[in-house]
Amino acid sequence: MERSAPLAEPPPTRMRAGPADRQPAAAAGIHDVEVWRLDCARHQGAGRVFDSALDVPERARLRAMRRADVRLRFSAGRWLVRRILARRLGCTEAEVELAVGAHGRPSLAAGGIDFNLSHAGSLVVLALSTTRVGIDVEVTNRTTDWRAIARRFFSPVEFAAIEACDEAERRTAFFRAWTRKEAFVKALGTGLATGFSRFDVSIGPRPALTGARIDGVEASEWSIRDLEPGPGHLGAVAVHTTRPRVRTHDIEP
Ligand SMILES: CC(C)(COP(=O)(O)OP(=O)(O)OC[C@H]1O[C@@H](n2cnc3c(N)ncnc32)[C@H](O)[C@@H]1OP(=O)(O)O)[C@@H](O)C(=O)NCCC(=O)NCCS
Repeated sequence: MERSAPLAEPPPTRMRAGPADRQPAAAAGIHDVEVWRLDCARHQGAGRVFDSALDVPERARLRAMRRADVRLRFSAGRWLVRRILARRLGCTEAEVELAVGAHGRPSLAAGGIDFNLSHAGSLVVLALSTTRVGIDVEVTNRTTDWRAIARRFFSPVEFAAIEACDEAERRTAFFRAWTRKEAFVKALGTGLATGFSRFDVSIGPRPALTGARIDGVEASEWSIRDLEPGPGHLGAVAVHTTRPRVRTHDIEP
């Protein structure tokens, strides 16, 4: 079962389990934004399946990772990227050739489809689109001095807006803003080097890029949607279109 969020709807897009990934690639097509979620906690024994998707440089990266959960998440992410892209392209996973940008952003070497990956806790999420897309998930129930982070990285407008929220809402407001901002810089590809204070996102329930002071970026051309990827997590997707249609799916190895 899959769900398509109505156009221009501001509330969070919920993840739903379902067989959407079994649709023939040609019939499924590429919607404005597809979000795929994989919960590694349910697939602790799938390491070998995930590892089989890795190329030589990725295997070297995997060997350098000490924590078993981080290793599993990493290879699950690469498996997820190749699995979904192979279906869209009508090729095998091994034939999916990835390139890496100047700031480390992976992309499809042949172009035509953009994707972005994020992991947090046991979750791996992938966003896929025919236009530029970025995604972020964060674990929200960890100890975080969110106020210090917001003061340091957010714009004065955003920081003031969070402080203006009710005390009980500020922490969630911070994580909402953080995921919206990180999804946007991940779409740009420059990551945290972009400078989080050079653009503003909304703080309230309607996600939006409200302003940008970055060469070549017009805020009104971008959309942001919140995700609720699972208990204790928040997420967001940023996409270079004014009317995104977000579809969310779960996938199993
Ligand atoms: C990209 C970045 C924001 C990721 O933050 P994070 O919260 O730690 O991680 P997330 O789980 O959300 O995302 C990580 C994934 O994003 C992708 N990614 C990596 N670099 C990226 C970039 N510059 N832009 C967008 N996505 C990127 C990768 O798929 C990565 O997962 P993988 O390594 O398992 O494939 C952060 O690492 C960053 O700013 N990197 C840029 C560093 C840089 O400028 N390097 C320059 C020299 S290479």
